[in-house]
Amino acid sequence: MLGLHYETPAVWAQQVLADPAALLLDHYFCELKAAAMAHRTLRVHGPKVPALKKLMTDLANEEMEHARQVEREIRARYPWPAAPKGGSAYVQGLRKAAAQEGNGNFLDMLLVCSLIEARSAERFRLLADELKGQALSGFYEDLYASEVNHYVLFVDLAVGQYGEARATARLEELRAAEGRLVAGLPPMARMHYGCAAVK
Ligand SMILES: [Fe+2]
Ligand SMILES: [Fe+2]
Repeated sequence: MLGLHYETPAVWAQQVLADPAALLLDHYFCELKAAAMAHRTLRVHGPKVPALKKLMTDLANEEMEHARQVEREIRARYPWPAAPKGGSAYVQGLRKAAAQEGNGNFLDMLLVCSLIEARSAERFRLLADELKGQALSGFYEDLYASEVNHYVLFVDLAVGQYGEARATARLEELRAAEGRLVAGLPPMARMHYGCAAVK
């Protein structure tokens, strides 16, 4: 359903849950960045796409609510963890793929957002399954449903702005780049990194 070219092995969830505080902290920053990205999209592209006003405002509010939920989960369980060093190689890699081939245009921006949402959804699904019967399973289950909706929102926006043929052709190219990128990233207790090889 998500159309991703690289399928994260289920064992990824076990690996990242070895350091649950680090995973939650990275997740917290992802939600904040998602909210900031929605605000930025509205600021930059809102003047020419009026529909963005409600869509991106609602999205930013929802992502901020996710951030608050993650923050509550962290504070209920752990002392506030040390922040991860450096930005996200995943997001930087995606931006590079978009800029190289698409000159960083609005179509690529929408599709990169759709891919980040799709990858997040895929991984929340794995976390929900891995934690079945435990407190955080329902939390990840709800986030899975929410990020699937965001994935669809960005693809629909891309199709609405650029037409089905152009948007889906470009989405396939970027899906391939995203798949290569995430498969090549090192394993880390973060939302969008690689999976350690299983012997
Ligand atoms: Fe979110
Ligand atoms: Fe999202």
